[in-house]
Amino acid sequence: MNDSVKLARREDIAVITIDNPPVNALSPGVPEGILASVKAASEDPAVKAVVLIGAGSTFIAGADIREFGKMTAGERPRIALYPMLLAIEDSAKPVVMAIHGQAFGGGLEVAMAGHYRVIVPGAQVGQPEVKLGLIPGAGGTQRLPRLAGVAKAVEMCAFGEPVAAQEALALGIVDRVIEGDLLNGAIAFAREIAGRPARKTRERDEKLGQADPAVFASARDTARKTRRGQPAPLAAIDAVEAATRLSFEEGCQEEARLFHECLFSIQSKALIYAFFGERTVSKIPDIPKDTKAYDIRSAAVIGAGTMGGGITMNYANAGIPVRVKETSQDALDRGIATIRKNYAASVQKGRFSQAAMDERMALIRPQLNYDGFDQADIIVEAVFEGMALKKQVFAEIDAIAKSSCILASNTSTLDIDEIASATKRPQMVIGHHFFSPANVMRLLEVVRGKATSKEVIATSMALGKRLKKVAVLAGNCRGFIGNRMLAPYFREAQFLIEEGASVESVNRTLYDFGWAMGPLAVSDLAGLDVGWRIRKEFQHLEKPGVRVPLVADRLCEMGRFGQKTGRGFSRYDENRRPLPDPETAALIDEVAREAGIHRRPIAPEEIVDRCLFALINEGAWLLGEGIALRAVDIDVVYVNGYGFPAWRGGPMFYADTVGLDKVLARVEEFEARHGSDLWSPAPLLQQLARAGQTFAGYDKRGIEASA
Ligand code: 3HC
Ligand code: NAI
Repeated sequence: MNDSVKLARREDIAVITIDNPPVNALSPGVPEGILASVKAASEDPAVKAVVLIGAGSTFIAGADIREFGKMTAGERPRIALYPMLLAIEDSAKPVVMAIHGQAFGGGLEVAMAGHYRVIVPGAQVGQPEVKLGLIPGAGGTQRLPRLAGVAKAVEMCAFGEPVAAQEALALGIVDRVIEGDLLNGAIAFAREIAGRPARKTRERDEKLGQADPAVFASARDTARKTRRGQPAPLAAIDAVEAATRLSFEEGCQEEARLFHECLFSIQSKALIYAFFGERTVSKIPDIPKDTKAYDIRSAAVIGAGTMGGGITMNYANAGIPVRVKETSQDALDRGIATIRKNYAASVQKGRFSQAAMDERMALIRPQLNYDGFDQADIIVEAVFEGMALKKQVFAEIDAIAKSSCILASNTSTLDIDEIASATKRPQMVIGHHFFSPANVMRLLEVVRGKATSKEVIATSMALGKRLKKVAVLAGNCRGFIGNRMLAPYFREAQFLIEEGASVESVNRTLYDFGWAMGPLAVSDLAGLDVGWRIRKEFQHLEKPGVRVPLVADRLCEMGRFGQKTGRGFSRYDENRRPLPDPETAALIDEVAREAGIHRRPIAPEEIVDRCLFALINEGAWLLGEGIALRAVDIDVVYVNGYGFPAWRGGPMFYADTVGLDKVLARVEEFEARHGSDLWSPAPLLQQLARAGQTFAGYDKRGIEASA
């Protein structure tokens, strides 16, 4: 028998324990082990019932996701969980599934093949396969509607959100919530039900007849809106619908057909890559896992504006007491009122209770001075973007902070080393670049200065996780990873409108590509004045004679700052819906004429290639420079911070799917047309394309070399 599945007996109850760290995935050997154990238990005359439980922190987190790539590459046979699940269900002895942690994906499918399920409070059940571009592939779409009802099964399979223990009980997915020790509780439960006729889930059909056809139509509508461009959620709905019109066996066949279609899609590969990517970014080659991290028990934030307020909320949400300092009572009151309003909205939406909001507010200490900052374990600066001010603030906190205090800046563009030079402890200085709204966006770029210590980096990465962020390490350069790459992307979007594309076609084409918003719509949302101010500050760095976008600055000169003034590239109605603006169109015409730009019709393909390949080429530059550790770090930044579609994996993964030779050819074509200052191909892109390699392959080499 496989080591990852153990069979033992507690008097008259057989206990099967899955012990396959870290999450008891159904890796090769585990299903076979379960099957052999169930068979042995049911043949043992001393056994009255069976309990199946997970060792460690969870029940079963699902199929082993690492195996899917091997299956599609033909290196492994496809998973065959159906026969194992049928065998559990057909076991002569009742099987009780004892759930703690998560029963996700194949884990819930195993659980549903049991005759009973018990669960501890705090555990979750779910079918999150759609998040990997898949659907449940081991009968989940057929057994779940039989337990939870069709509407809930549709929701769980199509949207992938988990259900907590109490709700699972109310829905009929589980039979009892066990307070106290799970194994003892499950054994007692097993003794209680032993001898009673055990019902097979696949034979239960009382909830199938209640299906309202409108459920499917409405779920499809929601999926098309909220999972735009993704076939897996629609396939999951089709599969659950099949349960209402086909026999269990036929329904399973339909599910298997849809599952395999999804499994072989590029989307599924991209989403699986994104899943592992989120975990890979926490691994920093030169910072061993056991690097000492500082204990962060209290925090302080400077500035309670747009970013400072959100950052303060992150700390309070994580239960960390946080002081927040402003320069005037007015600004402080405004900042705190915004925090209160955001929390109240969450209470209103039922995300957490009023008591939880009160607890969070009680952790926040608004103040106008540095009192207590000498006690803080971390101070995060979020004042206006200006080097002189940042240096002044860092000199002030350097004078009061304790020696073990981390000094973080939320700057989005400025040089971390120059900021650090204002202190006598550059090793403690680091960038914590949050994204707006900071209380919502998952990305945190952690920016390493040349002197930043490994301990400070390790602490920042761990802290990111505590704040429920995806922390990605970036090197110090203007714009770090995300904003540096965004500059050529936005530049091309503007060049395209100067050359003849409409604002609407640029926005629409990139939205259709899968971005959450078109680039000009993003600029309008962020405020055109922000870039205008930055461009003025950095004008001295611009190379004379190199083409720069002209329209945004002209809009700003007209007082059109984007959504906040109701007009930018587009006009906005009272519901902030964008409308075409003839005045902008006329301005663009005029700007193009003045600059001698020949206007022509521009096809969507060119819009995608110009914007995406500018982004990717810059990504390859900064990857070659070591600003990003791996291509996957860039992809995680873009998926989590910039609205890049996860189902395309990220810009670098997308480039791999296009083929780096094709990307390079197009970059060279644009270089010939628009000049080397704008389109010089990154050496790394050239090197990989010429060798027939991929960014993913480049990452793998780096990861292997550092192992
Ligand atoms: N297969 C393989 N590895 C997995 C895995 C899985 N299903 N789930 C998690 N892991 C790995 C992670 O990659 C990570 O590895 P690392 O330490 O080397 O980076 C490790 O387990 C721990 O995972 P997390 O860092 O995510 O740990 P958390 O405690 O934060 O979260 C979890 C645990 C909630 C279980 C989360 O990992 C999760 O959601 N996992 C995915 C669950 C899922 O999608 N299941 C469906 C799989 S598809 C399927 O079952 C198809 C079926 O229908 C046939
Ligand atoms: P903001 O203008 O909304 O807030 C800045 C706040 O800092 C103001 O309330 C101001 O009163 C306060 N302040 C100024 N000097 C201070 C001092 N000495 N002590 C205490 N408070 C002081 O600006 P925002 O947007 O929050 O930006 C802050 C920083 O975050 C900037 O460095 C910016 O580049 C960066 N950032 C901004 C993002 C955004 O989308 N707004 C995204 C990521 C980073």
